[in-house]
Amino acid sequence: MLFSRTPAVRSTADIAVMRRAGRVVAEMHTEIRAAIAPGVSTGQLDRIGREVLARRGATSNFLGYGYPPFPAVICASANDMVVHGVPSDDVVLVDGDIISIDCGAIIDGWHGDAAFTAAVGDVPDEVRRLIAVTEASLDAGIAAMVEGNRIGDIGSAVEQVALAAGLGVVEGYTGHAIGQAMHEDPNIPNQGTPGTGAKLRVGNVLAIEPMLVLGTTETVVLDDEWSVVTADGGWAAHAEHTIAITADGPEVLTLP
Ligand code: MF3
Ligand code: CO
Repeated sequence: MLFSRTPAVRSTADIAVMRRAGRVVAEMHTEIRAAIAPGVSTGQLDRIGREVLARRGATSNFLGYGYPPFPAVICASANDMVVHGVPSDDVVLVDGDIISIDCGAIIDGWHGDAAFTAAVGDVPDEVRRLIAVTEASLDAGIAAMVEGNRIGDIGSAVEQVALAAGLGVVEGYTGHAIGQAMHEDPNIPNQGTPGTGAKLRVGNVLAIEPMLVLGTTETVVLDDEWSVVTADGGWAAHAEHTIAITADGPEVLTLP
């Protein structure tokens, strides 16, 4: 089989290990968020991520990923950069920026993956709202993760929140099932038609990751072959969690 349409069903024991990986990701988020300030470089934020991974005995699913091999344990994407920004000591945050941090962790072979966007100092109301609506669209996608719903219900829920707020949903990038690899089939689009796609079941574990924009939904990849920026320079925000479907509904694994 080339790909599977239906997400794998995990045992409660396997989800318990993914919960541990998710907690490490949440700890990376907490410490990186606390360090975000004008004058701090994204290279420094990457080193904080490395410290948390080492302290928790976890490894990175980002470091060495893909081609060219991703060189860091976090993606740090500022302003008009949507995702996959490469951290650097030469990228220094300034007041008025926004910064999206995406990172993951592996514990005993099981993966967690999550992202957030933060304002650096003071940003205009429109940009603050971009971040808030991106988080709300993720929450709507999570709420749609119940047994019997379908993949299209998740994308529709995300998209409706964005469109109702007058924001765009980035094209060409999606969430994904996650387990013993970071990216498992199927993709979880941030757009969709209710009642379409694979049925969701208890034991599915998905990473939902809306990327919302103020302007065009088209993107360009920079010469580093990683950094994804909007085609028009409009600013973008990203939010992501790893979530399991339990008998009691969705459980976010990447929370502290
Ligand atoms: N974690 C990203 C995602 O949400 C992918 C990161 S690619 C990497 O799917 F190379 F940076 F690891
Ligand atoms: Co992801």
